[in-house]
Amino acid sequence: MSARYNLLSPELKVDPYPAYADMRRNAPVCQVDPGGMWAVSRYDDVMYVLKNPQLFSSRGFGVATNPPWLGGNPFSESMITLDPPQHGRLRALVNRAFGTAAMARLEPRVRTFAERTVAELPLGQPLDLMPPYALRIPAFVIGDLMGMDPALHSRLKRWADLITGGVTTVRPDDHEKKQLARDAVADLRRYFGELLEQRQREPGDDMVSDLLRARVDGVALTQDELIAFLSLLLVGGIETVVHLLGFSIVVLLEQPELFARLKADRSLIPAFIDEVLRYEPPAQTAPRMTTQEVELGGVRLPKGAPMLVLLASANRDEAHFPDGERFDMSRPGPQNLPFGHGAHFCLGVQLARMEGRLALEAFLNRVGRLERGPEPMTWHRTLVVRGPGTLPVVLHPA
Ligand code: HEM
Repeated sequence: MSARYNLLSPELKVDPYPAYADMRRNAPVCQVDPGGMWAVSRYDDVMYVLKNPQLFSSRGFGVATNPPWLGGNPFSESMITLDPPQHGRLRALVNRAFGTAAMARLEPRVRTFAERTVAELPLGQPLDLMPPYALRIPAFVIGDLMGMDPALHSRLKRWADLITGGVTTVRPDDHEKKQLARDAVADLRRYFGELLEQRQREPGDDMVSDLLRARVDGVALTQDELIAFLSLLLVGGIETVVHLLGFSIVVLLEQPELFARLKADRSLIPAFIDEVLRYEPPAQTAPRMTTQEVELGGVRLPKGAPMLVLLASANRDEAHFPDGERFDMSRPGPQNLPFGHGAHFCLGVQLARMEGRLALEAFLNRVGRLERGPEPMTWHRTLVVRGPGTLPVVLHPA
C-alpha cells in the first residue's frame, strides 16, 4: 500500500473492495481520508474493537456528526453514540418495540405497502428505481411505525441525509449546505416535539405512544432522549434499507441467472438477502474513538484517535469468508456482521430483513425480466453508508 486511501474518492465510491483487500493485506490498521481517521479492515480486529467499548468508544459517532458550526444534533446525542452503562438503559427501553412479536404485527402492513408500491412501477420504459421503490418502502415503514402523517414520509429521507451525510461530507466553505443542515435539525426538533406532545395528549397504538409509556426502574425517557431516539430511527432505519433494496436489484442485474432462480423458488430469498448484506453492506463502517493509548493490529493508536471500523472489509476477509469476493448464496448463515456486533448490534435487524424479503417478493411477483436502463448508474457514499444513488432500469412484465 503506497498512498493514503480516500474513502470518499470517486473510485472508492464505485468500488472500495480492492482498496479494502489491499489494507487487509498490507496495512490492517491505517489512516484514511478524509480527516485521517484510523481504518480497521481485518475481521478479527473489527470484532475486537466492537467487543471492547471501554477502549473504543462510540462517542466517535457523536463527534463526527456534531461539528461546532451545527449547534447541536439530536442524532449525535442518541444511544448509538453512548457507551455502557448509559447505553444499556436506553436500549432496554426500546428493545421490545423491535422484537419478534412487534415485527409479526407489522409484517402484513409492510407486505401490503410493498405490493402497492411495486404495482405502481411503470413497465417497459426506463426509470430510476431508487425513488419509487428502494426509497419509498423504508420511508413508509419508519413513518408508519412513528404514526406520522403519510404526507410527511417523503421528507424523512431528506432530514436523515441532512443530519448525517449533510454534516460529515460538507466542505468548510459551503455555507449554503451548512444552513440546510441547521434548518433540518430545527425542523426535526420542532416536528418530533409536536408529535410527542400530540401523543401525550392522545396516546394511541403506535411506537411513539409505547415509548412515552416505557419505564425502566420506574424512570421514563426524557423529551430530549425521545427526540434523539426518533432521529436515530430515521437515520438507522431509512438510509440502510434503501441501499439494501437497491443492492438486491444491482446483484440481480449483474447475475440474471439468480433472478430466474429466485423467481422459481421464493424460499431462497432470505439467503439471498443475507448474502447481499455481506457482499454489499449498506453500513460500510462503524465510527469509534480510542479512550486511551492502545495497540491494535501492531499499530499504536493515541488516546482520542477517531476510527472507522470497516464492516464491509471484514465481511470479505478471506480468513473468515473463503472466496469472500464472490457472491455465494449457499454460505452458511445468518450473516450478522453487516448489522454490527456487541452492545450496539442493530436494533432493526429483524425489520431490515423483513423489508428486504417482502420488497423483493413483491418485485418478483410483478417483474418478469429486468434490464439496465440507458443511463449509467451512480453511487452514494458517506463515511458510514454506501449504495446506489440512481439505479436506471427497464422492467418487463411477468
Ligand atoms: C439493511 C439495513 C440495516 C443495516 C445494514 C444496519 C446496520 C447497523 C449497524 C452496523 C449498527 C451498529 C452501529 C455501531 O456499532 O456503531 C446499527 C445500529 C442500529 N440500527 Fe441498524 N441497520 C439496518 C437497519 C435498521 C433499521 C430498519 C432500524 C430501525 C428501524 C435500525 C436501527 C438501528 C439502531 C436504533 C441502532 C443503534 C443500536 C444501539 O446503539 O444500541 N437499523 N445498524
